[in-house]
Amino acid sequence: MLILVTGGCGFIGSNFVRHVLASHPGDQVVNLDLLTYAGNPANLADVEADYPGRYRFVQGDICDAALVGPLVAQADGVAHFAAESHVDRSIEDAQAFVRTNVLGTQCLLHAAKQAWGDGQERRFLYVSTDEVYGALRLEDGRRFREDWPLDPKSPYSASKAAGDQLARAYHHTFGLQVLVTRCSNNYGPYQFPEKLIPLMILNALAGRELPVYGDGLYVRDWLHVLDHCRASDLVLRQGRPGEVYNIGGNSELANLELVQRLIALVAAKSGQDQERLAGLIRHVKDRPGHDRRYAIDAGKLERELGFTPQMGLAQGLERTVDWYLSHQEWCRRVTSGEYRQYYQRMYAGR
Ligand code: NAD
Ligand code: DAU
Repeated sequence: MLILVTGGCGFIGSNFVRHVLASHPGDQVVNLDLLTYAGNPANLADVEADYPGRYRFVQGDICDAALVGPLVAQADGVAHFAAESHVDRSIEDAQAFVRTNVLGTQCLLHAAKQAWGDGQERRFLYVSTDEVYGALRLEDGRRFREDWPLDPKSPYSASKAAGDQLARAYHHTFGLQVLVTRCSNNYGPYQFPEKLIPLMILNALAGRELPVYGDGLYVRDWLHVLDHCRASDLVLRQGRPGEVYNIGGNSELANLELVQRLIALVAAKSGQDQERLAGLIRHVKDRPGHDRRYAIDAGKLERELGFTPQMGLAQGLERTVDWYLSHQEWCRRVTSGEYRQYYQRMYAGR
């Protein structure tokens, strides 16, 4: 298969590209990424050398129909990860979210419909999110199932829900072989340190304050990114077209407890005093409209495709702290924004 991966220079996309190349020796990957602040080709620096002739990077915008058309036409499948992904940024300014997550998704779907026709074998994976379901109350024992009504609450999740619905509409209306996954919170290597886990690890290492929004009792279900990549790959190849599959980690945790666990790990591995690190926690102004709890029922994925996560939370968090400790230069370049200037020069004029 030749798979077009969008957003392959981001956190999950880069892990997915590596997963596909390592697990499917006959496959090739074309990675289309605009290189926004979140896209970093250094996340895949090893890949071109490790898999000669099987990986190609194209810098470009998923909203650019002239660019997207031929790339989709030559692909046997699309794994669409590209997005504006950070909730806080969508609250600051939603424009880029609507452009990329809604219009960009439609541009890709249109290209697939035009190039592939209907009733064919080629498959389109839309990577949605559990946030499209809205929020649960803490005392609500239920978990989101695939038939739960969509009720997105932030501009980010609203834009992802629009893409999710467009993708399913292209299946229903045009017969496009669309698969949708709705995954819970990911963590692991190459995550941009605006997200909770890498932000807390790097701040603790540097002795900076640890900003916990509101009371810190917001609950997320954490999944290691490699498990998300395995699940996405499985759904892309074996899922039933037109279907939605939840992906979750069975690891619900309140933010405050998660931060305490990270502090313990950072203290143990860096030799710092745990009490002193705990003293860096600051309860700061809450995120407007903050979703209280997400909880995923991933039973359908297990029943239909036999998928269960392999990485437990304790092991996954420890490995993640180790990864950030051993990739200090990557962290420095990412937090300074230095990599952006470097790649802008490198790809200029190509
Ligand atoms: P990320 O922000 O780390 O990466 C996004 C990538 O998309 C970047 O490389 C960026 O350069 C690229 N991109 C952005 N706009 C683009 C455009 N217009 N054209 C081409 N490329 C563009 O995001 P992530 O955390 O890796 O998330 C990947 C996908 O998974 C997103 O669709 C997100 O909604 C979904 N998701 C994420 C999580 C999570 O916990 N991070 C959970 C569930 C679903
Ligand atoms: O649930 C899946 C979603 O998970 C994905 O669709 C999104 O792309 C991804 O960004 C993530 O969204 P969250 O908003 O849940 O992730 P974030 O890391 O921003 O925040 C996790 C929780 O931690 C949330 O309750 C807000 C809180 N938080 C976050 C930051 C950055 C803090 O308390 N302090 C912080 O500094």
